[in-house]
Amino acid sequence: MSKEYLLAFETSCDETSVAVLQDSEIVSNVVYTQTIHQKYGGVVPEIASRAHMEKIVPVYLEALEKANIGMEHISAIAYTQSPGLIGSLLVGATFAKTLAQSRSLPLIEVNHIEAHAIANGISNPEIELPFLCLIVSGGHTEFRVCHSMTDTEVIGHTIDDAAGEAFDKIAKLLNLDYPGGPEIDKWAKRGNPNRFDFPISKVPDLDFSFSGIKTAVLQFLQRETKNNTNFIEDNLADICASVQYTIVQTLLAKYEKAVHQTGIHNLGIAGGVSANSALRSQFLEMCVKLNSKSYIPEFQYCTDNAGMIGFTAYHKWRLGKYSYDYTMTPSARA
Ligand code: KG4
Ligand code: ZN
Repeated sequence: MSKEYLLAFETSCDETSVAVLQDSEIVSNVVYTQTIHQKYGGVVPEIASRAHMEKIVPVYLEALEKANIGMEHISAIAYTQSPGLIGSLLVGATFAKTLAQSRSLPLIEVNHIEAHAIANGISNPEIELPFLCLIVSGGHTEFRVCHSMTDTEVIGHTIDDAAGEAFDKIAKLLNLDYPGGPEIDKWAKRGNPNRFDFPISKVPDLDFSFSGIKTAVLQFLQRETKNNTNFIEDNLADICASVQYTIVQTLLAKYEKAVHQTGIHNLGIAGGVSANSALRSQFLEMCVKLNSKSYIPEFQYCTDNAGMIGFTAYHKWRLGKYSYDYTMTPSARA
């Protein structure tokens, strides 16, 4: 069978991204990150929708150009259907649907979080199934068992903030730029992770909670800055290292529990926070300790990108999981 091209759109949050795949191979993956949110210290939904509206056409054209093809070569179109900011999702969905309808092409709906997990297969085509994946991003923290590349099951999730949200909100308390995760990661490299103690949340089963650490850090900073107004500046590296240590410990303690509970020893991490250097190295150590295989997507496929949407869509497409129903709508919730 000859290879076919697939076009994929990702617009669930603050990245406008379009990818072209030839079967499962990502040929181009253009990602535009909206920097305008930095001055607000977080993503402003209304501004995100408008920025997608501005960028979607140039990003789409660049993706086709980089792949060196035209729309006439495309055989199917995929888009992020859920979850995410509804205004942002609507921009990608409307664009994808209009293109598909005008060319009578099949549409493939993709769940963004499932795509983060399935992205582990991009650089590991021989990935063993089932595999267990911890997806840690700015909006989501959950465990998924991937029974196949098209069938995943959520077995635990956060009951409040996501891990990335905790990084971002704590970074804001420390006067660091948005997104805060990479900033904390950078400062933590020079700090002592055992200098300050923050609580590890106790939530039953395989669920998480990250609102407690945010409050604990807030109260700690209020207390300490009363005595020393330069406390944050004087101790930034140690605070970052201690916060990062606590978040990573929280995630990996649950991960060990998930491994024991499921008996699965093919383990992955995914999502923006999987770019965290401490999480990556300690996850690999955990896998060695548990005698498990480890998978981490390449850096460019960890944060939001349309390549992972297209890769996930490819597997659905091949199993007939597509539609010519152009009335489908996106959903903010998973
Ligand atoms: O998956 P992603 O790009 O977007 C969402 O779907 O949310 O994840 C973005 C999140 C942000 O919260 C960002 O702070 C976090 O990933 N992040 C990191 C690192 N790089 C990105 N968190 C910790 N350490 C990093 N190196
Ligand atoms: Zn994401």
